[in-house]
Amino acid sequence: MCGIIGVTGEQDACALLLAGLELLEYRGYDSAGISATDPARDAETTTLWRVRAAEHAGSIERLRALVADAPQPVGSAIAHTRWATHGPPTVANAHPHLDCTRRLAVVHNGIIENHRELAAGLDERGHERTSATDTEVLVHLVEEQVATGAGLADAVARCLPALRGDFAVALIYAGEPDVIVVARRTSPLIVGVTDTAGIVCSDVSAALATTRNLFALDDDQVAEIRPGTVVVRDLAGRRVEPAPMTVSWSVQRALKGGYADFMSKEMHEQPRAVGDTLLGRVHADGSTEIEELVIGDDDLRKVRRVLFAACGTSYHASLVGRQAVERWARVVADAEVASEMRYREPVFDEETLVVAVSQSGETVDSLHAMREARRRGARVVALTNVVDSVMAREADGVLYTRAGPEIGVASTKSHLAQLAMVEAFALHLGRLGARVAGDELARAAQSLLSLPAAVERALARFDQYEAVGHRFADREDFYFLGRRAGLPVALEGALKLKELAYVRAEAYPAGEMKHGPISLIEPGAVVVVVATRSPMWEKVIANVEEMRARGAVLVAVADEGDEETARMVDAVLEVPHVTEICSPVVNVVPLQCLAYTIARARGNDVDRPRNLAKVVTVE
Ligand code: F6R
Repeated sequence: MCGIIGVTGEQDACALLLAGLELLEYRGYDSAGISATDPARDAETTTLWRVRAAEHAGSIERLRALVADAPQPVGSAIAHTRWATHGPPTVANAHPHLDCTRRLAVVHNGIIENHRELAAGLDERGHERTSATDTEVLVHLVEEQVATGAGLADAVARCLPALRGDFAVALIYAGEPDVIVVARRTSPLIVGVTDTAGIVCSDVSAALATTRNLFALDDDQVAEIRPGTVVVRDLAGRRVEPAPMTVSWSVQRALKGGYADFMSKEMHEQPRAVGDTLLGRVHADGSTEIEELVIGDDDLRKVRRVLFAACGTSYHASLVGRQAVERWARVVADAEVASEMRYREPVFDEETLVVAVSQSGETVDSLHAMREARRRGARVVALTNVVDSVMAREADGVLYTRAGPEIGVASTKSHLAQLAMVEAFALHLGRLGARVAGDELARAAQSLLSLPAAVERALARFDQYEAVGHRFADREDFYFLGRRAGLPVALEGALKLKELAYVRAEAYPAGEMKHGPISLIEPGAVVVVVATRSPMWEKVIANVEEMRARGAVLVAVADEGDEETARMVDAVLEVPHVTEICSPVVNVVPLQCLAYTIARARGNDVDRPRNLAKVVTVE
């Protein structure tokens, strides 16, 4: 979480930083701030300029006003948009944080886990801390090193070994007015240069307006950026060449394009996201080609176990991946929440393939799970939407979804692209392993290839979904039920409703209800059930009857024209019929629309739901 951007050598640095902060806002929007050096003043004595605001989603607007009131000539400047971890979202806790001399400033993404211990030492040595953040300790530690005569880059390098945790940091110093120094461990950070300027940034989107000449830093590297140059060193002070980044996105693609919000735009981009993800990878005869996977066909044939690891919505895609791998590849498969897998002491060997699924390629739990899997002997593949993201760079192989940049905090198009990609991958494994008949795999491929049109058709029913949403917009208790391929859809439907509409929503395997949760059902509770036709349909309908008998209001995701299902429920969300394994790609669409409609009816900001951030780079 948190977005960092810094520039040096730019005439209109504040305008650039404000525009960059807007693009980074999806990473956190509790508060924001900018600090800058002023090369027109005496570098020996001058202090830093700083503005900060803590007005939730309005912080950047407030900064814009503050900057307009007091325009500053700047040398180097750093800015930050915050998702609060330590200390509430107040101005005092907003970044940048200054040292006691007010000549050093830091912005930070991540968590300095041993900040209490470091702060105790700083307090004893007489520093005055002004925030409740973990971040502030670093600027005071750097202050001590600068006081010994060290330059900013050396001072930062000397402090890094004392820090525990994951972080990306950027610092400026009034004594070196055209320099920005950055460092990272696990949390993402990229640097870029033009002939006359330099930029540092949490991700590509905010850097593109300045340059496409971008580099990714590795763990425990320190970069010194001046106008036109970047010098990277490891902690031993050895110069290293930073890895150039591949940039495949343009700035234009991250705009709303006439929609009311990013979420609705991104939902409507889903047919294309699915189509692009399958393009050239799955063919109607069942053949597959996945180039970036890197892991060769012979090695894939040796895989005896596939474990998907992910968080949140990506975990729901993983559950579908598990079913597809079992069905089409007949290989042992499982899916696990990454934050749990990491600490479970799992047993792996070289025949285990761990597929870490992450839209952002940055989620720290998934990244650490991936690292742990590799440490324990498994091969790891990152399934991600962001080319050259931290996870993509560290994995043995990559499966790229092609959803394009997703700005809305709630995953929509990236989720559908993940579903398409886990299924394409399962088919690929199935083709190599040849445990399932070729004509069945060809039928599976054709079913996958029919998905973009089916998603388009589901979206054409947006009005129907919206009408159902409005009908239930004031209810407070929702249950989402599904079985087999319907379960990940139910889980995702409940998550979307919770995160966007702030409504209690529980998801269960439909058959589990009678083992306890059914006692929660009271007249008026809304039960949304995934009841499209599959071999599980009769069982699901039996579970629906159990809910109806207890007074629940029933909403079914059902096949278009399925009057039998429609007669048994109070409202229906119709979808085109596709085969069961492929059905999550289509069936989740009405549930996204349901959550969207209810959230908007309640006056919520669907692009920036409270307490959330798009990328979760803290544990
Ligand atoms: C929900 C949502 C989150 C993410 C989760 C993992 O709409 O977006 O649950 O799915 O934080 O993020 P990634 O996929 O970036 O690892």
